[in-house]
Amino acid sequence: MREVKNYIEKNLNYYVDELKDYLRIPSVSTLKSHKKDMKACANFVLKKMKAAGIKKVKLYPTKGNPLVYGEWLGAPGKPTVLIYGHYDVQPVDPIELWGSDPFEPVIENGNIFARGADDNKGQNFVHIKSVEAFMKTKGKLPVNVKFLIEGEEEVGSESIGIFLKQNKSLLKCDAVLISDTSLFGPGIPTINYGLRGLAYLEVELTGPAMDLHSGSFGGAVANPINELAKLIAKLHDKNGKVTVPNFYKNVAKISKAEKENFKRLKFSDTKYAKEIGVKELQGEKGYTTLERLWTRPTLDCNGIFGGFTGEGAKTVLPSKATAKISMRLVPNQDPNMIAKEFTKYVKSLVPKSIKIKVTDLHGGYPVVIPLDSPAMTAAAKATSKAFGKKTVFTREGGSIPIVVDFVQQLKAPAILMGLGLDSDNIHSPNEHFSLKSFELGILSSAYFMDEFSKVTKTKTIKGK
Ligand code: BES
Ligand code: MN
Repeated sequence: MREVKNYIEKNLNYYVDELKDYLRIPSVSTLKSHKKDMKACANFVLKKMKAAGIKKVKLYPTKGNPLVYGEWLGAPGKPTVLIYGHYDVQPVDPIELWGSDPFEPVIENGNIFARGADDNKGQNFVHIKSVEAFMKTKGKLPVNVKFLIEGEEEVGSESIGIFLKQNKSLLKCDAVLISDTSLFGPGIPTINYGLRGLAYLEVELTGPAMDLHSGSFGGAVANPINELAKLIAKLHDKNGKVTVPNFYKNVAKISKAEKENFKRLKFSDTKYAKEIGVKELQGEKGYTTLERLWTRPTLDCNGIFGGFTGEGAKTVLPSKATAKISMRLVPNQDPNMIAKEFTKYVKSLVPKSIKIKVTDLHGGYPVVIPLDSPAMTAAAKATSKAFGKKTVFTREGGSIPIVVDFVQQLKAPAILMGLGLDSDNIHSPNEHFSLKSFELGILSSAYFMDEFSKVTKTKTIKGK
């Protein structure tokens, strides 16, 4: 492994330059105007896989953005790892809050700043580079490797879901390796074993048929913004619980052992509050912050619009008001059931004078991955070696909808080898990724292949 390690250290600057090229492609999947960039980005990933020595690299066209597939199966009798990532990124707005061009990467204080630097280009590039380092030094890999990099994660992973169902034998593996989550803290090697699910809906209220003068009409009719505000306020009770009927019905209880594990992580509320610029934390009563983030379901308004939002004052009583509302889910909540309950409930909350339209935008199931597979053990060993510290196991509050499909369809454990930091500003202006994490990530990935190659009998986990 020393050779591989040395190679990574020696070539790091060159790897960072290539990452910069990756980050220059504005592959924003939510915006139709970026369709061409999606294709260009898929081709970039394909080219880099090829250069790393991956065979059979191929773009699979989909109804949406192309999937990039590649494999190197030259280690017969050894386990196979499927590496997943996404090349699509979130939109850049509000652009005025960026300190530099989101698609012209800059390096400052050991961080690379650009949209997608952490989520997910920086993190998935790590694995392409670890393969390259192995191939360049040893001419082969210690395990069999398959890559599947998609371009629709940020919009719900629809195409890869279909592809997975139709290509189970192509994707057959003993473990799925994913870096699209976070370290517990800077320099702390971390394996995540849980993700929350998601139900995302849009609620549109319509009052009068057109915008009205707020003097001539104010007081005579219901104002959809006022009504929307009332509706949103009713979605939590005074203890921070979500009021949607049956919301908590299937929520799995946290075990004592897990509670103890969370305690051992020594999470500081004060530090966390300071980092995000609030005086104190808030949420469902009766749970610690980590419990609320990782094991409890939540409801949040992501955006709200309607009426006059321009400069100065315009007296108007708007015709429409809209809110985008998401719920993070935990085992064993079902996103479809939750979306239905939510829709029924919000419809019951509006007065007769208001029309309501509820649209289900997308959803995903939560997942918790058992810790007792050989792949997990290999991953924890690998990250410990790379970072020079004991690996911690954490869950995450975010969602990666395809993970549960991997686990169930391929009957293989998913290894969430998170490399980002909560402070990396993902989905926000000035997204960045630590170059130290980039380097240690490449090393972790290489150690994982080495450790996983020592596993002879791979334990699979049962799909539902
Ligand atoms: N990488 C994130 C998920 C994530 C972020 C997990 C931080 C853990 C910690 C992923 O790209 C993402 O943003 N997912 C979306 C999913 C959605 C668009 C279906 C999310 O969680 O909002
Ligand atoms: Mn994301």
